[in-house]
Amino acid sequence: MHLNNFKELSSQQLNDLVDMAIEVKQHPKKHEEELEQKSLALIFQKTSTRTRVSFEVAMTQLGGHALYIDWRTTNFGLSDIGDEMQYLSRNVDGIMARLLHNADLQKMMQASRVPVINGCDEMYHPSQCLADLITIKEKHGSLKGAKLVYVGVHNNVCNSLIEGCTKTGVELTTVTPIFNEASRDQALLDEAKQTGLWTATLDLKGAVADADFVYTDTWVDMEFFTGAKFAAEKEKRLKQMMPYQINAELLKGSNAYVMHDMPIHRGYEISAETVECEKSVIYEQAENRLYSAKAILLELLK
Ligand code: CP
Repeated sequence: MHLNNFKELSSQQLNDLVDMAIEVKQHPKKHEEELEQKSLALIFQKTSTRTRVSFEVAMTQLGGHALYIDWRTTNFGLSDIGDEMQYLSRNVDGIMARLLHNADLQKMMQASRVPVINGCDEMYHPSQCLADLITIKEKHGSLKGAKLVYVGVHNNVCNSLIEGCTKTGVELTTVTPIFNEASRDQALLDEAKQTGLWTATLDLKGAVADADFVYTDTWVDMEFFTGAKFAAEKEKRLKQMMPYQINAELLKGSNAYVMHDMPIHRGYEISAETVECEKSVIYEQAENRLYSAKAILLELLK
């Protein structure tokens, strides 16, 4: 079994994964030998802090071993992805990959003899969403009935939130004036719409008014943030998105927790004072990436 997104998981299985992550967080000692002698390859085409650290530390704390592989220092770029995966999956017990394109991840999954985990591409970010669900459950007590508002660009993180929330009973409102077409998964959106748990609006104030959680993400994907080719689009986006910044004025009168998947661009999608405000759970949410990784690894590799 692989983890590309949450499509292969039933609502019950996704809820169980959240509960497993919380249990592992509460009782780390119980699980410290469960992946003994197992190896996980971490392949990165893009930069990362949390995804790399959380999966690497998770493997160590579960008794196994992780090896970091920078795509550019391998022969993946020179060869057929399937051939390289045929080799790699004969030497490790699992593979976590952060790639630019989901199509390449799917090629990896087809060729691999061991589970492959999506560490974020242009379409999905499932391990992030699992950490988000853990955080919501810890703060709200239950996923069912929690009200989450996502404000930002409709991107990979937004897709995974739509999928994760509608499968676990979280009532999600998205406020996304820009839609990243590279991230579009119309089937996912159509299925989510049918649950009645996902609403899309541009009425930011109205959406935030009775939210339990307000969540934002970068307006520009990491691979484009410093690129000269994307500079004009970046400027356009920043201008269009500024009225949708999460800040003290927007949150006046709201009791919502503030979430962000990090890395943060202070002064853009969120103001500096909001990152540090009393209701911010951003760092706890990031800490939960470790328990998200552990639950995924135990589920797929044990
Ligand atoms: N949220 C997230 O995936 O962080 P990194 O890009 O640092 O891994």
